[in-house]
Amino acid sequence: MNILFIGDIFASVGRSLVARHLQDIISSEKIQLAIANAENSAGGFGITPLIAQELFSMGLDVLTSGNHIWDKKEIFDYLPRNPRLLRPANYPDELPGCGLLVTKARNGVQVAVMDLQGRVHMPATDCPFRKADVLLASLDAHVKVRIVDFHAEVTSEKMAMGWHLNGRVSAVLGTHTHVPTADERVLSGGTAYQSDVGMTGPYDSVIGSEKTLAVRRFLTGMPIRLDSAKTGGELHATVVTVDPQTGHAVGIRRFSCR
Ligand SMILES: [Fe+2]
Ligand SMILES: [Fe+2]
Repeated sequence: MNILFIGDIFASVGRSLVARHLQDIISSEKIQLAIANAENSAGGFGITPLIAQELFSMGLDVLTSGNHIWDKKEIFDYLPRNPRLLRPANYPDELPGCGLLVTKARNGVQVAVMDLQGRVHMPATDCPFRKADVLLASLDAHVKVRIVDFHAEVTSEKMAMGWHLNGRVSAVLGTHTHVPTADERVLSGGTAYQSDVGMTGPYDSVIGSEKTLAVRRFLTGMPIRLDSAKTGGELHATVVTVDPQTGHAVGIRRFSCR
């Protein structure tokens, strides 16, 4: 079975790419479950209830997120009522929302989707490696297909998570850097791995933001407000092929379009 994972949807450029291409990708790639990281879908900063509903209505089954999930306060009440929108599981339990969802794919197979966040050059959270162990221990053994969004800054932490979960999950897919990496592979235990799926948004930018503002920010060190860029739209995603009997990945392919 094929599972689609779309990298960080950034602002209106990213949302319109998903609106334009998702249904075609689902049919041409025979997708059984469509997941996307949506932490930047509202103007680059967070997600609103309205935008979450818009993305679900386009055909996305599960939305993951990351550090930007807390940017828009109106999402706090939405999270506990809508378990299909995940936040990183290793934030404190008392925060709204959840980082694990078990859902049924279009072919009837149960799929666990997990959202975890790294700790290197990231906000302070609980250990994502130990949290992953806790989440896996809570899963029914018959839920064999397991997809992890590891939202982290550095490739070393992401690769370490890939090896930590090798053979225990179907895929560890990195998000957050907004740059797709060419290191997709199936690890020895049957876990598909890619350091970063990349951004779905405006590439004529600095990781999504208007480039002159971002450059000025680096030149001056001032907290200059960043706007989302409007041009260079590209959709970046990854398709993982999983054997539903074993939960092992048998293939992983990058997918992109404009
Ligand atoms: Fe992001
Ligand atoms: Fe992020």
